[in-house]
Amino acid sequence: MAAATLTDNSGCRVQWAQFSRRVLIRTIVCRPDGGVGLAGQKVAVGGWVKTGREQGKGTFAFLELNDGSCPANLQVIVDASVAPLVQLVPTGTCVFVEGELKKPPEGTKQNVELRVEKVIDVGSVDPAKYPLPKTKLTLEFLRDFVHLRPRTNTISAVARIRNALAYATHTFFQKNGFLYVHTPIITTSDCEGAGEMFQVTTLFSDAEKVEKEFKQNPPPSEAEIEAAKLLVKEKGEDVSQLKSAKASKEVITASVGELTKAKESLAKLEERSKLKPGLPQKDGKIDYSHDFFARQAFLTVSGQLQVEGFACALSSVYTFGPTFRAEHSHTSRHLAEFWMVEPEIAFADLEDDMNCAEAYVKFLCCWLLDNCLDDMQFMIKNFDKSAIDRLKMVLSTPFERISYTEAVELLEKVTEKKFENKVEWGMDLASEHERYLTEVIFKKPVIVYNYPKGIKAFYMRLNDDMKTVAAMDVLVPKVGELIGGSQREERYEVIEKRILETGLPLEPYDWYLDLRRYGTVKHSGFGLGFERMVLFATGIDNIRDVIPFPRYPGRADL
Ligand code: 4AD
Ligand code: MG
Repeated sequence: MAAATLTDNSGCRVQWAQFSRRVLIRTIVCRPDGGVGLAGQKVAVGGWVKTGREQGKGTFAFLELNDGSCPANLQVIVDASVAPLVQLVPTGTCVFVEGELKKPPEGTKQNVELRVEKVIDVGSVDPAKYPLPKTKLTLEFLRDFVHLRPRTNTISAVARIRNALAYATHTFFQKNGFLYVHTPIITTSDCEGAGEMFQVTTLFSDAEKVEKEFKQNPPPSEAEIEAAKLLVKEKGEDVSQLKSAKASKEVITASVGELTKAKESLAKLEERSKLKPGLPQKDGKIDYSHDFFARQAFLTVSGQLQVEGFACALSSVYTFGPTFRAEHSHTSRHLAEFWMVEPEIAFADLEDDMNCAEAYVKFLCCWLLDNCLDDMQFMIKNFDKSAIDRLKMVLSTPFERISYTEAVELLEKVTEKKFENKVEWGMDLASEHERYLTEVIFKKPVIVYNYPKGIKAFYMRLNDDMKTVAAMDVLVPKVGELIGGSQREERYEVIEKRILETGLPLEPYDWYLDLRRYGTVKHSGFGLGFERMVLFATGIDNIRDVIPFPRYPGRADL
């Protein structure tokens, strides 16, 4: 299909919307001149009416049209002679129109408006029924309409910022020589060893199928099986008799055929009689050998273990995909399904890892300032006055780096605030501690490293003190923990011991140990919670509003 083109007055061709006749509203209103230079151009645009009003006693209508390409709307003017106005003005109506861009009269706030000459298509809305009327709706209310909420200014701005962060992520890693690896979503290894995995199984649906089938077609009774056995016996005797009576070949063949049929139907009955409703059991436990993968399987909590295999061959790699945790957390920072960016670098130690994390977060902040300023301005106006300043601060300030022991010492000295969770060496830092460090003490991102081994995962490298591991968490204002990472334990004997020490079975990690058995390499990596980054950037308060389809305990709409 021909691309719609837009040429400005100076004859220079500007960006066009490909694969559709319409041009993106962004290409009109987001030009440095606000679109003035395009006056006189004929264009087609499509979008959804934000607000519409009939004017001049119903002789024409103003429509504020938005197509999601930018926060700004295009003002569209339709004369009553072109189309019935009453159908166009309700909020939420979809219109696809053609017309001429005009410079509006002096004194209006628009730089350019579209005078409609033809209405190509309308997707009408019954205003009495449309769930998202013009009034300001709370983000909580909108969570009941995840399919329609992208039409709101906030959710569409978040979607554009999220898209920009994803693009920036790939740009950063690709520019730095990392290879994108797709790690499995269904896995049989528990990366964090925390037992928070969602199970993937067909056993329940299989059991339900058997139960349903049994209702329609009950299993054979003992008597039916006995009767079938008797039939086999009789048919067998018939064959013997015919053979001893030297009957003709055809007669014997026919009789053998009947015997075979009787045997087959007995086998079928016996097979069905073995089927039992409910889950398959063996030695008092569920027998997963009957499951889809012939073993227990789960949704991944992290692609790290698998991506390590690629790092130990391709050097610098990253994975970026959905991860799942069956935590019953109802906080504004946790989701059951979230996206994680996980780089893994061979020949890199903890310091290299911290440097990479810091450079990556700075790159993301810089990218938003360069590419999403209009959406960021929307955020500061509506949600968080400091959102842009926070990005600038992160970009320009070196992250503080302190050991876990130093962090605990600092927190122990705090007197002005009473923490809910007691501060003592060996405890896991709670969100209140993390936020205090980054928001109150340092007022900038903080990397805490060298955590006690008892509170961290088995794969983290044991430090020489034998008490701490080479872990690091990046804490940022507004969010707390944004990144968790570590140098990995590359020594075979040490990691084997750590797996056992943590109470995990060795067998499922045997493949992982191979990476240490054969050609082991010092390597490090981290995971950035993508939604936490969107929270940090936008200043939105709840993580459920920065992922298109939030999943959390009790909710998985659509
Ligand atoms: O600290 P975590 O658990 O680290 C890992 O999973 C490592 N395997 C990563 C690696 O080294 N490759 O999780 C990493 C990040 C956290 O810092 C947090 O930002 C985010 O993932 N995260 C969550 N985000 C939303 N909802 C949840 N339930 C989250 N749990 C972790
Ligand atoms: Mg963590």
